[in-house]
Amino acid sequence: MSYTNTTTGSEIADLFASQITGKTFVITGPSNGSIGAQTALDFAAHNPARIILLGRSESKVSPVLAAIAALAPSVQTKFVQVDLADLASVRAAAEQIPTGVDVLVNNAGVMALKTYTKTFDGFEAQFGVNFLAHFLLANLLLQQGKLERGSRVVNVTSAAANMEGFREDDWNFSDGETYHPWLAYCQSKAANILFTSSLAEKAKARGVLSFSAHPGLINTTGLADDVSAESFAEAWKLGTERNGGVPPIEVVKSLAAGSATSVRAALDPTLEDESGAYMKDATVVPRESMKEHLTDTDAAAKLWTLAEELVSVKVDF
Ligand SMILES: NC(=O)c1ccc[n+]([C@@H]2O[C@H](COP(=O)([O-])OP(=O)(O)OC[C@H]3O[C@@H](n4cnc5c(N)ncnc54)[C@H](OP(=O)(O)O)[C@@H]3O)[C@@H](O)[C@H]2O)c1
Repeated sequence: MSYTNTTTGSEIADLFASQITGKTFVITGPSNGSIGAQTALDFAAHNPARIILLGRSESKVSPVLAAIAALAPSVQTKFVQVDLADLASVRAAAEQIPTGVDVLVNNAGVMALKTYTKTFDGFEAQFGVNFLAHFLLANLLLQQGKLERGSRVVNVTSAAANMEGFREDDWNFSDGETYHPWLAYCQSKAANILFTSSLAEKAKARGVLSFSAHPGLINTTGLADDVSAESFAEAWKLGTERNGGVPPIEVVKSLAAGSATSVRAALDPTLEDESGAYMKDATVVPRESMKEHLTDTDAAAKLWTLAEELVSVKVDF
C-alpha cells in the first residue's frame, strides 16, 4: 500500500487487523472529536482485547467509550483519569494500567498557551504536558514491566518541531521571562522526537519499539480552541523565517486521515527495523532530510538525563 496525506487510520487498521485482535491499547488525550479518539475508534473496529483511555475529563471521553461499545461490544474499555500537568496524577494513572500493554499512544497535547503557564511541578506547561508527563508514563510502564517485548510506544509530535529544538540552556523559559507560546510548543514537540530516538535505542534489548508521529494539520479538533488568529499569524511568520523564507505549508487533513500516522506506527510489522523513526503521512521520514536539531544525539542524551531528573524516574534498561 502506498500512503498519502489522505490515507485514513481506518484503512491502515484494516490492513493490519491481525496486529489489533486480542491486543491492549493505551491512548492519552482521547476527548471526543480529537485525534486520540479517532485512533481509539480505528483500533476498536478489529477486536482488540482492551482499550484504555487516559483523559483529563470523563465527560469528554464518555462519548468515545459509548462509540466503542456501539462499534465493538466485546472490547473491554477503561477510563483512567489523569492530569498530565501533575506528575503525581501520572504516577497514579500508571498504577491503574494493567500488564500486557501492546501499544501506548502518547497523544495528548496542548498548543501555544498564550501566557506562561506552569505545571503543578513547576515546568512550562507544554514541555510538562506534551513531553515530561509522557516520558514519565512510558518509563513507569517499562519499569513496572507493563510494556514488554513486542510492545510499541508512539509519541505524537508535530511538524512544528522543525521550528525549535530542545532549548538545553533555557528549557523553562527563564521562569517566563523569555516565554514565546509557539517556541514552547515547538520545543515540546522536538522533545518528543528526541525522546523517541533515545527510547528506541535504550529499549532495543527489551524488544520495545518507539516511533514519533506527526498527524498532519487537522483543523476540527480542540487543539486550537484558545489560539487566536493573531497568534497563528505569528506562527506563520516564525515558521517562514525558520524555514529559510519558505512558508511551512501544510495541507489540511480530515480527522479520519489524522490518525493514520499513529495507527501505522502502532501496527505495521514491516517497521520493526525502523524503531526510533519520525513519521508523517504514515511514512518514515529519512533522518537525512530532518532538521539537525531533531537528529542531534547529544541533545537527545542531555534531554533524557534532564527528564529523568525532573520526573524522578530511572529505568535500568
Ligand atoms: N490537530 C492538529 O493539526 C495537530 C497537528 C500536529 C500535532 N498535533 C498533535 O496531536 C495531538 C492530539 O491533538 P488534537 O488535535 O486531537 O487536539 P485535542 O482535540 O485538543 O486533543 C488533545 C487532547 O489532550 C488532552 N489534554 C490536554 N491537556 C491535558 C492534561 N493536562 N491532562 C490530560 N489530558 C490533557 C485534551 O483533553 P481536554 O479535551 O480535556 O482538554 C485532549 O483530549 C496533540 O499532541 C497535538 O499536539 C495535532
